[in-house]
Amino acid sequence: MADPWAVSLPPVDPVDPKEQVRRGYDAVSARYRGDDDVDEHYAEWETLLRQRVTPGGRVLDLGCGCGVPLARLLSVRYQVVGVDISPVQVGRARRLVPAASFVQGDMTEIDFEAGAFDAVVSLFALIHVPLAEQPAMLRRIAAWLRPGGWLLATVGERAWTGTEDDWLGGGATMYWSHADADSYRTWLDEAGFVIDVDRFVPEGEGGHRLLLAWLRSAAAGQPGERPKRRRRSEFATTLTEDRAMAAPAITGLSRPRAASGMAATL
Ligand SMILES: C[S@@+](CC[C@H](N)C(=O)[O-])C[C@H]1O[C@@H](n2cnc3c(N)ncnc32)[C@H](O)[C@@H]1O
Repeated sequence: MADPWAVSLPPVDPVDPKEQVRRGYDAVSARYRGDDDVDEHYAEWETLLRQRVTPGGRVLDLGCGCGVPLARLLSVRYQVVGVDISPVQVGRARRLVPAASFVQGDMTEIDFEAGAFDAVVSLFALIHVPLAEQPAMLRRIAAWLRPGGWLLATVGERAWTGTEDDWLGGGATMYWSHADADSYRTWLDEAGFVIDVDRFVPEGEGGHRLLLAWLRSAAAGQPGERPKRRRRSEFATTLTEDRAMAAPAITGLSRPRAASGMAATL
């Protein structure tokens, strides 16, 4: 017989970490990054890509934030598509980096055609994706890259998942989730990547791991040809072309158009 004293309570709605991240960046977008902030690390990391990816190539920035500084730097030479879960970040990115295209969405749900990009960058963003989804996210990135394409990402150095209330004084709770660096090395290998640059990026008492890797094959485990690093002389030649490419983006006379392969299917 049913207990007459039993009270049926509605199920407790667990906090969705992605919703925390979205709300958190909506709240702190401008506190996190000003419209014209520069950062020498980003300039240095952009150079690592410039030495490897031919001008005019297609670059996807996952968790692009407000587009400053990385998408802005990249858009001088490349066709850039940025994706971010925070509508406020995407709104600012569209205003601050008119030469690039931006999509508001969850990187774990958005989709692109196979082999659509020459490079994918994701700085300080994968660490906000729930850990259980990260290995699959790396495999998705591999599918979006052409073989020989590059991934530049900051990932965890030590494993930690947690939240911080009132992050940066914005009133919202922020969520992070990351594994240790060795786990990322393993997951990258399993997804078909070969690591080329592996650096510690200090922050406070801890830090992050910067990994730059190339895709040996869309199908993990298959040998491929190592992409050629551009020689210094080649680089010097393309700098002139780069400046020519940069002009329309700066003057706003014309914008690089996203190729059809870059269209997101949401
Ligand atoms: C720390 S900020 C970094 C922004 C930019 N990459 C940079 O380095 O300046 C992390 C960004 O990742 C975005 N992000 C976090 N989880 C995401 C997800 N699942 N899909 C898309 N964007 C996400 C956040 O909204 C935020 O703008």
